[in-house]
Amino acid sequence: MTTILAIETSCDETAAAVVLDGKTIASNIVASQIDLHAQFGGVFPEIASRAHIEAIGHVVESAIKDAGINANKIDAIAVTRGPGLVGSLLVGINYAKGLALALDKPLLGINHLEGHVYSLWLTDAGRDIQFPALVLIVSGGHTELLLMTGHGQYERLGGTLDDAAGEAFDKVGRLLGLPFPGGPNIERVAAQGSPTAFDFPRAKTDNSYDFSFSGLKTAVKREATVSSRSGDKEPVLRSDVSVKDVAASFQRVLVSTLVDKTARAAKEFKATEILMAGGVSANQALRQAMRAQTELPVRYPPLNLCTDNAAMIAAAANFRYDAGLRDDFDMDVKPMWALNSHTYDR
Ligand code: KG4
Ligand code: ZN
Repeated sequence: MTTILAIETSCDETAAAVVLDGKTIASNIVASQIDLHAQFGGVFPEIASRAHIEAIGHVVESAIKDAGINANKIDAIAVTRGPGLVGSLLVGINYAKGLALALDKPLLGINHLEGHVYSLWLTDAGRDIQFPALVLIVSGGHTELLLMTGHGQYERLGGTLDDAAGEAFDKVGRLLGLPFPGGPNIERVAAQGSPTAFDFPRAKTDNSYDFSFSGLKTAVKREATVSSRSGDKEPVLRSDVSVKDVAASFQRVLVSTLVDKTARAAKEFKATEILMAGGVSANQALRQAMRAQTELPVRYPPLNLCTDNAAMIAAAANFRYDAGLRDDFDMDVKPMWALNSHTYDR
């Protein structure tokens, strides 16, 4: 049995997990900084790194303790190497190096996006996944469309040209005066609104597999807020606008853009499955719309594995460990690391 301890600190969650054979979660600790960043309406990089430093020792200790294992039983230490915030990544990678040295264990640097993909393998259904699979990663930092042709083999088809899907949810949530993060809160109020109340525009990237969501955000702003008066830091919501209707209409346009492109790519590349991962894949409207649009199996992680966690990093690391891959102790962080065909043969 392979036992991997993974550490994830790429953004605003300090996380550690122990996973057995890349599929059984023995422990999964996530210390969220949401409350810390809520006052700014977004993630503040310097505050994030400091919070990681404060939390990491305790989070890793809890993961080992919860798993009920002796640290010597760990076969490898995995850590997110990128993409992400440089200061936050450094906290995780330095801690992982120290631990790997102290325990005399091998070290594996994992791509955070590959981690999101492998969150699917932590489910029973995930183990039957057939390639080629069309993968849609939708999170606070990324919107990526990939063709996955085998383990660790990705062809990047497109991605966002501006705001990520989750970022669009967060920014629109803020415009509508909803708490951070916007995604789950928009989903909540949208459930009571009319998705056709507003006809927000879709970006004109229709022939490519790229996405653009900043125009949609601007259209929401134009429709729902009054131009700020001097002295107002935040846009002011129009008093006659229905937040529920705006949220539902925004969500409909964003979801249909994601679903149309994913389904079209799945057809073009003859994918056998559609996989969704990342924080936004928790969205029920997205899950339903994707299932309705295609006859292929559509898979998504359980809710607690959609958003950032370290179990998914361990799951990705397990495949690399089994393939005999190890990283050098002098490996550096890769804040802009794209996921593109490289990973098993770099
Ligand atoms: O994967 P994740 O935890 O972090 C990144 O790697 O970026 O994703 C966080 C993002 C946030 O933007 C949040 O608003 C969004 O996922 N999110 C959702 C939902 N739950 C989280 N967006 C839409 N609907 C949801 N239910
Ligand atoms: Zn993520």
